[in-house]
Amino acid sequence: MSVSDLFKPLTLLHGPAMRNRFMLAPLTSQQSDYDGTASEYDQSWMEQLSQGFYGLIQTSASTVEAGGIAFERQLGIHSDDHLPGLTQMAKTIRAGGALSAVQLHHAGHRARPEVGGIPAPASGKTIPGVRAISTEEVERIRDSFIAAAKRAQLAGFDGISVHGAFGWILSEFMSPNLNDRSDKYGGSMENRARFTIEVIEGIRKACGPDFQIGWRLSIERYGLRLEELREVTAEIFDRELIDYLDLALWDSAQLVREGMYQGKTMLSVFTELPRKGVRLGAAGKIMSAQRAAQLLDEGCDFVLIARAGILQRDFPLQVKANPMYDSPKLPVTAEYLRKGGLSERFIETMRGWQTFVRPGS
Ligand SMILES: Cc1cc2nc3c(=O)[nH]c(=O)nc-3n(C[C@H](O)[C@H](O)[C@H](O)COP(=O)(O)O)c2cc1C
Repeated sequence: MSVSDLFKPLTLLHGPAMRNRFMLAPLTSQQSDYDGTASEYDQSWMEQLSQGFYGLIQTSASTVEAGGIAFERQLGIHSDDHLPGLTQMAKTIRAGGALSAVQLHHAGHRARPEVGGIPAPASGKTIPGVRAISTEEVERIRDSFIAAAKRAQLAGFDGISVHGAFGWILSEFMSPNLNDRSDKYGGSMENRARFTIEVIEGIRKACGPDFQIGWRLSIERYGLRLEELREVTAEIFDRELIDYLDLALWDSAQLVREGMYQGKTMLSVFTELPRKGVRLGAAGKIMSAQRAAQLLDEGCDFVLIARAGILQRDFPLQVKANPMYDSPKLPVTAEYLRKGGLSERFIETMRGWQTFVRPGS
């Protein structure tokens, strides 16, 4: 396939179609107000992105409960007080022509007390002195995901994406290393996946047939097992429980290092599954027009743009103008990012990402 195929529309099982194959990946910029309200910096960032010609724009990871926070100045969706800011964001994205989704997040055992988080581990062995959350607490957090999705809908978003990656709560529950529970949310793979499935099913029930549901999944670290996650994904595809899977790889070309799929790309393990009407996309070092087009050849329906979108807010437009477009080489100077429109706070966040901002700049 060629770069021009990236500009073909993509229908989803629910709601409107994406106008093209570019999805902005969730990007926590840590520039919201301390209570999770979207700040003027968040609004300005969304305005820049909305002009970038994405098919769908995801917000940064947004807390479904105050205690589920992992980052200072993280965006929140756990209170109706967040609605005005979120409504403004949804409006901005729609005016630019993209679809919109809030990424729903709870940090689980990785919630950080320094910023108001209350660690909620699946197991009593994960954090010394912190007991595993009870079955009732799991159900409460499940319902918080569902309430947050309702809030996203009320704010005017086309959908949500359920954060099931990077060891955060839903990913934590999937892991046999982090989940040794003996209730219905632990033990067999089916039980460990129950939390995720109940969140997704609950959101569909609460938000109706026009609302879009994405699911972000990662495979690396946290004791996650590729073979198991493949099985859960196969079921989710077969039952068409979601509109799209967002495969969060750190490198979309990453090979499987062990087990029955050793030597294959991680991506292929998922693209080879029958996916019925569900769409599949991947993130991970997609920095050029050519690499984005190659991912369609590798079986993706769409691509997720993260760091390349911070470097150049209108990555899709750049690709449209130049099929040989490549991102600026890293690290870049703070001045480069400032000139592009990034706030000082966002630049500060990016200094924490190795090799992104040139030290001393
Ligand atoms: C500054 C920054 C913030 C991020 N925030 C989130 C987030 O809120 N939620 C999430 O699921 N992933 C987050 N990620 C991961 C990205 O969405 C993406 O999966 C990852 O950066 C790999 O894509 P890339 O190589 O194109 O950057 C973040 C990445 C960066 C660089």
